[in-house]
Amino acid sequence: DPSHLKILPATPESIRLASDALRDGKLIGLPTETVYGLAARGDRPDSVAKIFAAKQRPATNPLILHVGDPDAVHPLVSMDSDITRRRFAAASSLWPGPLTLVLPRSESVLDCVTAGGNTVAVRVPAHPVALQLLREVSLPIAAPSANVSNYISPTRPEHVIDGLVDSVEWVLDGGNCDVGLESTVLSIADPKSPPTILREGVLSAAKLEAVFGEPVLSSATTNMELLKSQSNAPAASPGLHRKHYSPRTPLRLVAATENVAPSNDGGNNKSRILRIRLRGPAVSLPGYADVWSLSPAGDPFEIANRLYDALRRADSGEFESIEIDQINVQEWSEAGNPNLLAAISDRLRRASNQDDSAT
Ligand code: TXA
Ligand code: MG
Repeated sequence: DPSHLKILPATPESIRLASDALRDGKLIGLPTETVYGLAARGDRPDSVAKIFAAKQRPATNPLILHVGDPDAVHPLVSMDSDITRRRFAAASSLWPGPLTLVLPRSESVLDCVTAGGNTVAVRVPAHPVALQLLREVSLPIAAPSANVSNYISPTRPEHVIDGLVDSVEWVLDGGNCDVGLESTVLSIADPKSPPTILREGVLSAAKLEAVFGEPVLSSATTNMELLKSQSNAPAASPGLHRKHYSPRTPLRLVAATENVAPSNDGGNNKSRILRIRLRGPAVSLPGYADVWSLSPAGDPFEIANRLYDALRRADSGEFESIEIDQINVQEWSEAGNPNLLAAISDRLRRASNQDDSAT
């Protein structure tokens, strides 16, 4: 497949090629430890506009600026409070890593990056290829997840090609993403409020609280409850719409006790429903075309790591040439890393939401 020629093995030469393309204002598929990003230089409105156009992303949804070193954040933010400076010093000890910090913006940050707001999101990703590229290009790089808006985030280079082949110059091959879920978005923009999680991710609140030495709030959970009940509730993180991360195939959340697939094809008896279990054995169930298990051992990190790839595979219809017309995912709500489980169930709820009104 010639479109896969756009996937480059990550060598010093290809990283230089990607860096030159970014400087020229082009889009690059950027591997990070969370998900692949759709990268462009963040200091030029024309290149940032290409991101919004390629993703069909509403201009009201701001972007994360990525840099190769915590010190490179300083020109982008304005920290005139001691509390904010102290929190930044603490939080940035988790960088490089799956953490995005929301801070008051500096004058130099473009309005199209912040969606006109007075804060900016910044991150130093932990992937070695991302770090090499960011250090080589030495510019703030805007990078949302490299999927068309509201579709499933990409965790492999082929996923970027699938949705955005015509938009990217190259995709650097960084392999499968280690984390596989988007970064935790944490706001430390307001010195008068506690640090506040706007989007759950792999980092536990316990870890964040230990780092800050103070309580950390999660508006992501309350925000999620709000979003479930009111279609027009304001989102703390503007990108957290009710329908997001969605496969095209309808996805339904089902209880563990709901073990028999409803017959759905008028007696033809060939079920086209796929069951995805988050954990436990992948034993077959009556009426289901197939049963997959993301983590037989029940490891939440493994579940997070495999979730998006499984949803994309289910959606691609490549499964034994049967076209799946429904995906039933079995929810799991048990203690462990509560933030990671909250992140997984947050993404699943959004993926199962068929209401289009808030896209
Ligand atoms: O893991 C990740 O964060 C990936 C990789 C590529 O870094 N990026 C990513 O970007 O997921 P995106 O654009 O798909 O999601 C960024 C989230 C959105 O929900 C957006 O609304 C929020 O961060 N965000 C960006 N800037 C913000 C700001 N100034 N205030 C509050 N939320 C912001
Ligand atoms: Mg995204």
